[in-house]
Amino acid sequence: MSQPLEHQPREPRQRKRGLENDGGLAVRAAAARALVPVITGKGSLTGLDDHQVVARDRALFKALCYGTCRTLPRLEALAAKLLVKPFKVRDADVQALLLLGIHQLLYLRIPAHAAVGETAGAARLLGKEWATRVLNGCLRRLQREAAELQAEVDRDPAVALLHPQWLIQALRQAWPDDWRAICDANNVPGPMTLRVNRRHGDREAYMDRLAAAGIQARLCLHAPDGITLETPCDVQLLPGFADGDVSVQDEAAQLTSVLLGPALAPRPGARVLDACCAPGGKTGHLLELFDIEMHAVDSDAERLARVEDALGRLGLEARLAHGDATERDWWDGAPFDTILLDAPCSGSGVIRRHPDIKRLRRPSDIPVLATLQTQLLDNLWPLLRPGGTLLYATCSVLPEENNKQIATFLSRTPDAEVTTPGDVAWGRPWGAGRQLLPQIDSHDGFFYARLKKRPG
Ligand SMILES: C[S@@+](CC[C@H](N)C(=O)[O-])C[C@H]1O[C@@H](n2cnc3c(N)ncnc32)[C@H](O)[C@@H]1O
Repeated sequence: MSQPLEHQPREPRQRKRGLENDGGLAVRAAAARALVPVITGKGSLTGLDDHQVVARDRALFKALCYGTCRTLPRLEALAAKLLVKPFKVRDADVQALLLLGIHQLLYLRIPAHAAVGETAGAARLLGKEWATRVLNGCLRRLQREAAELQAEVDRDPAVALLHPQWLIQALRQAWPDDWRAICDANNVPGPMTLRVNRRHGDREAYMDRLAAAGIQARLCLHAPDGITLETPCDVQLLPGFADGDVSVQDEAAQLTSVLLGPALAPRPGARVLDACCAPGGKTGHLLELFDIEMHAVDSDAERLARVEDALGRLGLEARLAHGDATERDWWDGAPFDTILLDAPCSGSGVIRRHPDIKRLRRPSDIPVLATLQTQLLDNLWPLLRPGGTLLYATCSVLPEENNKQIATFLSRTPDAEVTTPGDVAWGRPWGAGRQLLPQIDSHDGFFYARLKKRPG
């Protein structure tokens, strides 16, 4: 994982997103650069694959980036204690190195001498050799005083729970009995769950293929096509991945197909709209299971291209449209039998997979997102034929986006009837829908409400 310090280059250098082959220093410098947008509140971790890191260090690179994001509140509080004065704004990359160093010392099984030496040394690769001594000093002090410093910063609940105060409050209010468990689940990486392509074989046969490849896994409890791996692995190691035999998709997300099964299974050729489809996880699953005419829309052209790639790998076809689902200029005028609205949302149910949400999401985003969801619902409902089904989904656990959103929709939509099932073994009723809360080692947080348009 790390190389001895004497093998590292001594000359200062600065490179931007170039391929660096300097072992432990380079991977830490790359992680620091990747973290700058997140810690400055300007961008997410989504571009990680653009950072060129040698293959043997990619797993460490991702673990450093995701782990640091996940534990950011505590790392930042400790950094503030360790520094005599904060770094200047232009030295956010050095601040990122300090956070990375603290994360390694407290959370990763990396030898302390490598965590300190290679993190401090990485400042040279950022062209900031002056920071090496500061970083060394701070990290060595943390080694000596870790217990006292942690106890001090953990007095703040936002630090101890690794969540921003506003989100703790929102979770407490929505889930008075479960908010702590939600925070705990958000702080642990989610498992890697697969969806077996039924057109290529069943999941029992795929379990055998995994076993033959030495990959340990178990069947999902609620999603009939789902398999959860005991340990995440590179998708290229999954048997038949390139041929579309399997995809990566959380168990909660796979329940879309269970919920739409009664509407779609008896209706071959049904016109289906997936109104916010990218990157195409649910589009692909529905097409694997049902012989339908799929229309898939998304307003983000780059993300829509990923749907095309995903369907290409699976050997499936849909009519893709780049469009705004709060408008109708992409619509051909024929009503849909079924609509899936997997709405843009806060992502508060998938924080463990996108820990930068804790830093980047603001409380003021929630009403803005709720308004967008309202507009989407109101624009799409008239496109549904009488007797048709609309499934509303979010990966949120907040009421404004879920039970309250659907309650107000029902109050202004007299021809909408609730058909969300009550007799299922997953989630719990929340208003007219069902809420799944994120579970350690199991599914993400998700909300579903199934509605039928009363025949005219
Ligand atoms: C939760 S994601 C959808 C995930 C997708 N259904 C899947 O299973 O892979 C929400 C999507 O909504 C898209 N979106 C946001 N606003 C939109 C709008 N006004 N019209 C259409 N798509 C929109 C986003 O680009 C994003 O891809």
